[in-house]
Amino acid sequence: MKNFIKGVILAGGTATRLKPLTKVTNKHLLPIGRKPMIYYPIEKLRNAGIEEILIVTGMDHMGSVVNLLGSGKDFDCKFTYKVQDEAGGIAQALALAENFAGGKAVAVILGDNIFEDSLTPYLEKYAEIGSGSHILLKEVHDPERFGVAEVECSKVVSIEEKPKVPKSNLAVTGVYFYDGGVYDIIKTLKPSGRGEYEISDVNNHYIKSGKMTWSSMQGWWSDAGTFESLAKVQKLVEEAPPK
Ligand code: G1P
Repeated sequence: MKNFIKGVILAGGTATRLKPLTKVTNKHLLPIGRKPMIYYPIEKLRNAGIEEILIVTGMDHMGSVVNLLGSGKDFDCKFTYKVQDEAGGIAQALALAENFAGGKAVAVILGDNIFEDSLTPYLEKYAEIGSGSHILLKEVHDPERFGVAEVECSKVVSIEEKPKVPKSNLAVTGVYFYDGGVYDIIKTLKPSGRGEYEISDVNNHYIKSGKMTWSSMQGWWSDAGTFESLAKVQKLVEEAPPK
């Protein structure tokens, strides 16, 4: 069943919000609990049965990432690596997965998203749906920090990237499933006001064509891109380790 999908971990960016921790290393190599951050998304994909995983990161720290992870032998999987030349946004990084995916669907995890739930039930739901995009949403108290989804029953009506006045408290987590159509969508995008190719623009394309479905994350979820969220994740991982 898991043969229909490959994994993608996006681990680029400059992580300016975590300086000086990220002055000489990549955010995704920082420790969380007893492991480097990037181990968590890798283990999520592996535990869901995904064996082929693409890791996208910037030029500066690709060497360290490869030194740490190697071929994938230690994780009983196969890693492929791609360099994102400049920090041009999540959608730009995802575009690098086109050849790797070879027409198959992809399960994409932003490398700083740490969460409790197993991916397996969500993957099974997406396999049943069979096409389009499926995203995971989580209720948060500070939605203005994230992509925010407006939903009506099983439908996502809109997604706004970091809105000043959020329409809901449902954050779009950095866990996305896409079919092979995603690359053609990315090719139509223009950079946003902050100069990045936004994943929310990709998601809004799927919404417009009626091909976006969603699930609600049951366990805890957090990003780890700020000092506050990094400290929070350290506690959560200790109290309720990810499944
Ligand atoms: C990105 C996405 C945002 C999403 C978030 C999840 O934001 O643009 O839609 O809610 O990841 O972690 P960033 O952390 O890159 O600002």
